[in-house]
Amino acid sequence: TGLITLDLGYKNTGATLSEITYLDGDVGELYYRGYPIEQIAEKSNFTEVMYLLLHGELPTQEQFAKFDEGIKKYNYVAEEMKKIIDAFPRSAHPMGVLSSLTSALVAFNPKAVDVTSKEDMDHAAEMLIAKFAHLAAWTYRKTKGLSLNHGDNSLNYVENFYRMTFKMPNQQFEINPVVVDALDKLLILHADHEQNCSTSTVRMVGSAHTGLFASVSAGVSALWGPLHGGANQAVIEMLEMIEADGGDVAKYVAKAKNKEDNFRLMGFGHRVYKNFDPRAKIIKKAADDILDALGIDDKALDIAMQLERVALEDDYFVERKLYPNVDFYSGIIYRALGIPTEMFTVMFALGRLPGWISQWKEMRLKGDPIGRPRQVYQGAQKRDYVAMENR
Ligand code: CMC
Repeated sequence: TGLITLDLGYKNTGATLSEITYLDGDVGELYYRGYPIEQIAEKSNFTEVMYLLLHGELPTQEQFAKFDEGIKKYNYVAEEMKKIIDAFPRSAHPMGVLSSLTSALVAFNPKAVDVTSKEDMDHAAEMLIAKFAHLAAWTYRKTKGLSLNHGDNSLNYVENFYRMTFKMPNQQFEINPVVVDALDKLLILHADHEQNCSTSTVRMVGSAHTGLFASVSAGVSALWGPLHGGANQAVIEMLEMIEADGGDVAKYVAKAKNKEDNFRLMGFGHRVYKNFDPRAKIIKKAADDILDALGIDDKALDIAMQLERVALEDDYFVERKLYPNVDFYSGIIYRALGIPTEMFTVMFALGRLPGWISQWKEMRLKGDPIGRPRQVYQGAQKRDYVAMENR
């Protein structure tokens, strides 16, 4: 009771104390556990980043090996889960399938549901990290009508995911290091971003002491939205639309500025970054390098660069401090790696998974109270019930 502060979209409300990720939106800096994202993206690997986010420190060789082994122990998914996948239509959006499958995992791993000690949480985390890679790969196989591949423990996490996703039956599968390195970098760049919409969702759901898997399933649903992770799919669709319409980027910049029009420049703008998104800088360069290395000439990259140039010189975008965000160039890389558009947000989910888990773990270990925002009521005042025949 008492005075309620109204903060639509929680623009200025801190919901928790956290030690995981720091971002300074005014200068465009991002740190995982204190390490600058530029250093992490260049020097680390996704498995190590998962460890760092979950445990707070970079692992020693021994800690890394134990963590890797812990994940590999669960490098399989119950056979019955395949029946659930079978039941989905092939046209089902992979994010809907992924969210449902993540929730379904609870039924097959009931011991991981209600964990309260740090050890059990870490164990559940390793289990989910392993199984989620299967689910992500399998959503792809489903949309293509392909058989489902199982994990291969001789590979690292990203290679294993890549193989499960793309290996054809009876094929001698080759790992392309350019592709795997690019995937690794993208996953690292998406691994955590403090209290974004999906992470806040995971924390909110988990704050009711809902288990890890179900909380993460809710996070997948939140990420699906086009204002959040779904933007990576929306960006490519927008770039394709502009290309099909003759490539007139100025026309679409004008459209985005027009308040009568609902169109927004997808992949532009961010709640916190008001200078630039440091992840976008790294991804833009990576997109350039990867297309080069794979010998791909993608018109979408040219259109994206033109769009960025025109928008960044336009007063509307300058005044509102709207810059390309992480989703602006990521789709161009995914496409070059052979990942279809409707899978882009699944890739984001795979990357964000360690962030969701770390934030869930932190919240539970710190004993945050149940999330329960207040409201300012604007509805009808007290009135008497009217029987239906008298309405
Ligand atoms: N195109 C055109 N105008 C925009 C855009 C855009 N992409 N983004 C913001 N604006 C305008 C908005 O209309 C508003 O103008 P005005 O002050 O005249 O009303 C002003 O900029 C502030 O925008 P806002 O919607 O109040 O800002 P927000 O912090 O609530 O929203 C955002 C942030 C990311 C949802 C928004 O910028 C957006 O919709 N961007 C496009 C979708 C997108 O790329 N999302 C990915 C976000 S980053 C990665 C992730 O979270 O997954």
